[in-house]
Amino acid sequence: MSKSAKIKLDLLRQACYINGEWLNDTNKGQIEVYNPFDGNLVGRVPDLPTEQVHQAVAYAEQAQKSWQALTAQQRGDYLQKWADLIDKNKEQLATIMTLEQGKAIIESRQEIDYANSFIRWFAEEGKRIYGDTIPTLNKDLRYTVLKQPIGVCAAITPWNFPAAMITRKVAPALAAGCTMLVRPASQTPFTALAMAELAHQAGIPKGVLQVVTGSAKIIGNIFSSHPSIRKLSFTGSTEVGRELMAQSATTLKKLSLELGGNAPFIVFDDADLHKATEGLIVAKFRNAGQTCVCANRIYVQRSVKAEFLKIFQEKLLALKVGNGLNEDIQIGPLVNQSALQKVKNLLKDALDKGATLHCGGDNIDDSLCFQPTLISDVNHKMAMHEEEIFGPIAAVYDFDTEQQAIAMANDSIYGLAAYFYTQDLGRSWRVAESLEYGMVGQNTGLVSNAVAPFGGIKQSGFGREGSKYGIEEYIVTKYWCINVATEH
Ligand code: SIN
Repeated sequence: MSKSAKIKLDLLRQACYINGEWLNDTNKGQIEVYNPFDGNLVGRVPDLPTEQVHQAVAYAEQAQKSWQALTAQQRGDYLQKWADLIDKNKEQLATIMTLEQGKAIIESRQEIDYANSFIRWFAEEGKRIYGDTIPTLNKDLRYTVLKQPIGVCAAITPWNFPAAMITRKVAPALAAGCTMLVRPASQTPFTALAMAELAHQAGIPKGVLQVVTGSAKIIGNIFSSHPSIRKLSFTGSTEVGRELMAQSATTLKKLSLELGGNAPFIVFDDADLHKATEGLIVAKFRNAGQTCVCANRIYVQRSVKAEFLKIFQEKLLALKVGNGLNEDIQIGPLVNQSALQKVKNLLKDALDKGATLHCGGDNIDDSLCFQPTLISDVNHKMAMHEEEIFGPIAAVYDFDTEQQAIAMANDSIYGLAAYFYTQDLGRSWRVAESLEYGMVGQNTGLVSNAVAPFGGIKQSGFGREGSKYGIEEYIVTKYWCINVATEH
């Protein structure tokens, strides 16, 4: 038995966290959450009725005034206390995450640290929300710029990062003086609810942070159209992002949308192929290939393709797939049957259209675990060129020249993350400047952290999370013009 399987799960809450209390008697229904590895029931959460979601918004409005009135230092202290409790309960949180999401326990632990780094970063960053004074145009006038919290905020978060996608929205909101309602994905509500319990234990006042579970459609509709909600932050598909943006138009709500990606990963012939393949393991297989920044299109310069495929295949065959709770597993199952079916369909389409299979290619023993798969001779006529694979398939394309690689990499409606490997200085600048992406990793397969701006351009959305920019999403600018003339 794995070490994690023996952990007591006293943070697992089968209820919504509303106005500082746990609510599970909603008379409407329950949503069942299953472990993607073995199909066992992890628990149930309420399918919250519309009136109760509205009630939660009203509680957030009530809490807004007093939370906003605290100093940044006081809010930061609450956040630091919350982060301390998350650290203390890391093993349990990681276990809950693996149970509901499937990811390898080593990755769940990393995600808890990653999630907590946003809380600690924004606890400090809240103290650095500076305004301005502007040199005057008139001797009697003074111009001042105040930075104030935007007000009640809402977040809709995905299943692939059940903790980090929450804290990188909640922490800047709370640090800036906003209250926040969160709707976690129905597949993975328990990590969010466990973190809410720790926020409660940290003494974060009632109504400041609330977690509501239930229908994506109903809650999404309320979050995007309620006049009291001033800001909505969403991480998920471009399709849903478009819908939320349209719904938000009626109240002109401020939005942050972190949407789909289709990341290119370019390997030039001067790259260190060992380092490039190591970086690619991270960029492709993190979370079983289920991240928005996963390398979806791998472009390898033709002159090094054969060697690259050989080195990469060896690394890929060493990856262990299975029950995420086991310490030696690097890749857990896909999240559900439809994810598995999508991966299978995309692979079949590519193979039917001429791609070459090097290894992998199927799920294991009828489970949701998919073999790490390598294919080459992929081209833009295959469906996976346009679509996010969201699974452990590495799809290799060829190119000959730098211009060709840049053009191919930019040939996408998405613009979230891109990666390239080269040791040539001139090429580094040319490629980094030319890639139409919000984030570019050079000679690394991982760009995400709390101190850097995460976000996309084009149809990958807008807004930035993490870094000094992340808190600006929760702040409004007020210009104050003062006549200081003495009265006569
Ligand atoms: C995502 O997949 O949306 C987030 C990935 C990350 O934070 O690195």
